[in-house]
Amino acid sequence: MLRILAIGCLLGAGVVHLVITPYHYAHAPAHGLFFGLLGIVQVVWAGVFWRWPTSALRVGGLTLSGGVVVLWVLTQMVAIPFADQPEPIDWSLIASKALELAGFVTLVLGNSLACQPIVRAGGVGLGVGVLMWGGGLGGAVLFPQYGHTSHDHTGHDHRNHDHSAESAYADVDLAEETYDWQLPEGFPLPAVPDDNPMTEEKVELGRFLFYDQRLSANQTQSCSACHFQEIAFTDAKAQSVGSTGESHLRNSPTLTNVAYNATLTWSSPTLTELERQLLVPVFGEFPHELGVSGHEDEVLQRFIDDPMYQERFAQAFPDEDDPVTWSNLVKVLASFSRALISGNAPYDQYVYGGDKSALSPSAIRGLNLFLSEELECHHCHNGFNFTNSTRHRNTTFKNTPFENTGLYNIDGTGAYPRGNTGLHEITGDPEDMGRFRPPTLRNIELTGPYMHDGSIETLEDVIRFYEDGGRNITSGPHAGDGRLNPNKSGFVPGFVLTDQERADIIEFLESLTDEQFITDPRFSDPFVVESEAHTPDR
Ligand code: HEC
Ligand code: HEC
Repeated sequence: MLRILAIGCLLGAGVVHLVITPYHYAHAPAHGLFFGLLGIVQVVWAGVFWRWPTSALRVGGLTLSGGVVVLWVLTQMVAIPFADQPEPIDWSLIASKALELAGFVTLVLGNSLACQPIVRAGGVGLGVGVLMWGGGLGGAVLFPQYGHTSHDHTGHDHRNHDHSAESAYADVDLAEETYDWQLPEGFPLPAVPDDNPMTEEKVELGRFLFYDQRLSANQTQSCSACHFQEIAFTDAKAQSVGSTGESHLRNSPTLTNVAYNATLTWSSPTLTELERQLLVPVFGEFPHELGVSGHEDEVLQRFIDDPMYQERFAQAFPDEDDPVTWSNLVKVLASFSRALISGNAPYDQYVYGGDKSALSPSAIRGLNLFLSEELECHHCHNGFNFTNSTRHRNTTFKNTPFENTGLYNIDGTGAYPRGNTGLHEITGDPEDMGRFRPPTLRNIELTGPYMHDGSIETLEDVIRFYEDGGRNITSGPHAGDGRLNPNKSGFVPGFVLTDQERADIIEFLESLTDEQFITDPRFSDPFVVESEAHTPDR
C-alpha cells in the first residue's frame, strides 16, 4: 500500500515537472533542462520501483523526493542558481513539492519505523539536495548563458553589458502597475510593495501633496521646502530647518533614485520602505518637520474639504469609499518619491547612449581615477546608482552597508558628535559609531553642502578629505583626528593627487548632473506657473 502511494506521488511530481518544462526553458534554459530531466527520472523511477522495490531504488526515490525539496528550500532561502530571484509560488510548485514530500514520508515509513533508517533517509535527502544546489550555483558561473538575464549592475564594468530593462518585467505580476517608469538605459525596475503598486494617478496625486504647504500643521512647509527639484531635491542648507523653526541634525539628502536605496535616511538599517520612512517627516517630533502629530484630523480635513483632492484620491483609489486617509496620503507620497528617477546625465549619454563626445577628456580621466584601486571610491559608490546600498526588484542578496569615512574622532576615542553618531544610534554597538549609508553620487554637483551633517562645503573639499584619508579637526568641541578613527573603513586610506587629477575627478562628478531630471515637468511644482517657481535661498 505504502509502495503504491510513494509511486503515485513521484509519478505525479514527475508529470508536473514535465508539464512546466517548456515554460521554464523559455525564461531560463538551465531551469527547463533541469525540470525536464527531473521529470523523466521521477517517472522512470516510478515505473521501475513498481516491479523491483529494492533498497537501491528506495534510496533513489528518497533522493528524488527529499533531495528535491531540500534543493527548493535552499533556492528560496539563499540563492537560486541561474536566476536573480526565487520562482514565484504557483500551482505547479505547490503540487510538486507536496507530492514529493508525501512520497518521501511514505518511502521512509515503508522502509521500517525504526529510527535509524529514517535518519539515514533524511541524510541522503539533505546531502543530495545540497549537492544539486551547489552544483547548480557552480554551473551558473560556468554557463551563464543558460540563466536568466541578470540585472545586477554592480562593479564598474557595466559598459560592456547589454542592458535591457524591459526583460526585468518577466516574472513580476504587473497587472496593477500602470505607471510608465520611463526607465533610463541600464536601470532595473525598482522594488515596490505589493499593497502599493505604481499608477499614474497615485504619482500625480503624490506630486500635488509633495508641493502642498497644507501638509504641515502650520501650513508653512511642504516636502519641497527641504527637497527642491532644481537642486535634485535637497535644500542647500548644511542642516534642514523644520516648519516650526527647529533645526534638524541632518543634511537633507537628495531624493534622486530614492526608490533604489537599500535603506532610507542617512543611517537607519531598519527603514527600508518609503511608506514607513515618510511617517518621519510628516509625524516626527524629534525634530518637528511637518509637525502633523497632534493635528492629524485638522490637516486631513483640509484635503477632504478640497474638491480637487477628493477627485484625485477617488481616481487613485477607485475601490475605496473614503479614500482621503493618512494611509493613502503616505502611499501616494511614496509613489511620487519612487518616480524620481534620474539617469540621463552626460555620463549616461557617454556610457549607454554611445555618445563619445558627451564627456570631456578631463571627465574621462576623472572617471578612470574614480574607478581606480588607488582611490577606492567604487567600493562604496558603485553600480548604476553609484552606491553599494542598492536594491531593486530582482535583488536576491540584500546588502545594507554603512561605512565610517573618518569625518570625526572626538578626543581620539572614535566618537562622532552627540545625537548624530550614525548606525550606532540604532544598534548601540560602539563599532557602529560614525557609520553612515554611502549615498548616491548622481547629481552630486547640485546637492552641497555634503555629508550627513553638511559639514563639508564643496566637492573640492570632499576630494581633499578623501585624499587626506579622513578629517583632522584641530580645535573646537569636535577636535580630533578623523584619519585615525578606529572604526574608519580600510577603503579610505588616503592618496596623492595632482591639481589636474583633482580637477578631473570633479569634472567627472559633475558629469553625473542630469538636467532633464531637475527640469522634468512630471516632477515639478503643479501649483505655480513656471516663471514664479520658488527657489531655495542659497
Ligand atoms: C524640514 C525639512 C524636511 C521636510 C519638510 C521633509 N524632509 Fe525629507 N528629509 C529631510 C532630512 C533632513 C532627511 C534625512 C533624515 C535622516 O537621515 O535622518 C530626509 C529624508 C527623506 C527621505 C529619505 C531619503 C534617502 O535617501 O534615504 C525621503 C524619501 C524624504 N525625506 C522625502 C520627504 C517627503 C515625501 C516629505 C514630505 C512629506 C519630506 N521628505 C519632508 C528633510 C525634510
Ligand atoms: C568606505 C566607503 C566609501 C569610500 C571608499 C568612498 N566613499 Fe564617499 N561616502 C561614503 C559614505 C558613507 C558617505 C557619507 C558619509 C557621511 O555623511 O558621514 C560618503 C559621502 C560622499 C560624498 C558626499 C555625498 C553627499 O551627498 O553628501 C561624496 C561626494 C563622495 N562620498 C565621493 C567619494 C569619492 C570621490 C570617493 C573616492 C575618492 C569616495 N567617496 C570613497 C562612503 C565611501
